[in-house]
Amino acid sequence: MSRIVVAVDGPAGSGKSSVSKAVARKLGYAYLDTGAAYRAFAWHAQNAGVELEDAASVASALPSFEFSEATDPDHFSVRVGEKDVTDAIRKPAVTGIVSLVARVPEVRAALTEVFRSIAAATERDGIVIEGRDITTAVAPDAQVRVLLTASEEARMGRRSAELTGYSAQVVGEQLKARDRADSRVVDFMTAADGVTTVDSTELDFDETVDAVIAVIRTNL
Ligand code: CDP
Ligand code: CDP
Repeated sequence: MSRIVVAVDGPAGSGKSSVSKAVARKLGYAYLDTGAAYRAFAWHAQNAGVELEDAASVASALPSFEFSEATDPDHFSVRVGEKDVTDAIRKPAVTGIVSLVARVPEVRAALTEVFRSIAAATERDGIVIEGRDITTAVAPDAQVRVLLTASEEARMGRRSAELTGYSAQVVGEQLKARDRADSRVVDFMTAADGVTTVDSTELDFDETVDAVIAVIRTNL
């Protein structure tokens, strides 16, 4: 792993991606969005025609999964093979199925290895890695470990403020259903031992970035 690893976990809409990216930019660190990898694998598995409800069928798409993700916070992109899927993986069609592939142990094990290789290869002083199981499974020995939370109301409000084309109520229901499904596989609602909780409910974006940087400064 690179010299400094900042591990950030949290539920959907807590601000993980946008805050982690801004923190990385400010500190000159690399940035790794692990949810993007799960999304890219879901996109790939669906195109490969696997049976999404069947774990063995989902895992059968792993050997043909050629994944790469840029770790420059200013130039984020995700590829599967030669195809740039940066935008495609944010579409509702992928968001709606990603939990089905993320629950398969072989998928989690393979992607965890990919994340560790990417972190080890970064040439910057540090890397911010964000997801659901970074503080507990991907990088439990990271120098800085943060759980970013926010009330359900705040998280749903933030997500429906983004232009999805769906009503606030539909966005809220989808978000809750995904968090419920993901929670059965990984606990990202409670801080593990040694993990600092940053509650962003009452913080605006810049204040949240500052709060995470303050945790980093305290731990380094
Ligand atoms: O940004 P958002 O919270 O919508 O989700 P994401 O971080 O892009 O993650 C998409 C999905 O990937 C989650 O709903 C989980 O099913 C899965 N995931 C995971 O299982 N473990 C991670 N470390 C990151 C994401
Ligand atoms: O990755 P995750 O699903 O945890 O959240 P995100 O996609 O980074 O953030 C969802 C939205 O919340 C973004 O539009 C952020 O700018 C916004 N946000 C906010 O309004 N206030 C905060 N304190 C943190 C994030």
